[in-house]
Amino acid sequence: MDGFEVVIYEKQDGIAYVTLNRPQALNAYSIRMRDELYEILGAIKDDSEVEVVILKGAGEKAFCAGADLTEFLTAPSPIIARQARFERDIWGRFLSVEQPIIAAMHGYVLGSGIEMSLCCDIRLASDDARFGLPEPGLGIIPAAGGSQTLPRTIGQAAALEMLLSGRWITAEEARQLKLVNRVVPRAELLKEAEKLARKIKSYNPQAVRFAKQAVTRGLDLTLEEGLALEARLGRQLTVTEKNE
Ligand code: COA
Repeated sequence: MDGFEVVIYEKQDGIAYVTLNRPQALNAYSIRMRDELYEILGAIKDDSEVEVVILKGAGEKAFCAGADLTEFLTAPSPIIARQARFERDIWGRFLSVEQPIIAAMHGYVLGSGIEMSLCCDIRLASDDARFGLPEPGLGIIPAAGGSQTLPRTIGQAAALEMLLSGRWITAEEARQLKLVNRVVPRAELLKEAEKLARKIKSYNPQAVRFAKQAVTRGLDLTLEEGLALEARLGRQLTVTEKNE
């Protein structure tokens, strides 16, 4: 796949690498980036060769410094700038990917950067990562699902404090809050993500996809419904394996 300007897509040995690639603008999330991500995630979703995905940011300084403020400034209002983003349900697209997605985050992880990572399944941060939600300070609220995904991940009080105080947190604080699974030295970030990806890749891909589905879909269900989902997926897996 080529023709992309602000996202790099690479595939190697069953691992898809998706790199936000606007380092000169700290990988700010633009409409162009949304469109390219939408297309790439769609291709990944339908590609049986891809067993696991790594999402990362190009350059030294940032995973993603949030929504592209220049697009905000040229739009008639922040609300209209936001509306442009709803034209494509990129967040739904993230959530529809059956393969596990690992976010490998360094440097600035702001606004949509955090929100994007919350649509991933496992979050690794380097020790230099800084997390913040500048939205209320800009007169807006998160529009990429963050108001829903953040409290589901770190709890209501911590999510509200982060959002309402505008305080940025360190990688270590993010780990304590369970916003990230693990913190690793900056130089080790990609290596650690790849190590994890290779481990996941060593398992039965169907079992991996079903396990992801049972957990992520199950979280939105009652326990009873979740148990039924788990049983259904388990049966389907057994049948699939027997048929092979
Ligand atoms: N949208 C568009 N461009 C952005 C950007 C964003 N969200 N964040 C950074 N950039 C651009 C800067 O304008 C600058 O461009 P320039 O070199 O052409 O002037 C370049 O990226 C480097 O950023 P700079 O501000 O010089 O780096 P810094 O290390 O001094 O500061 C930040 C880093 C993250 C503190 C600062 O860039 C910032 O506050 N960015 C905005 C964060 C934000 O509010 N995001 C929106 C969330 S909804």
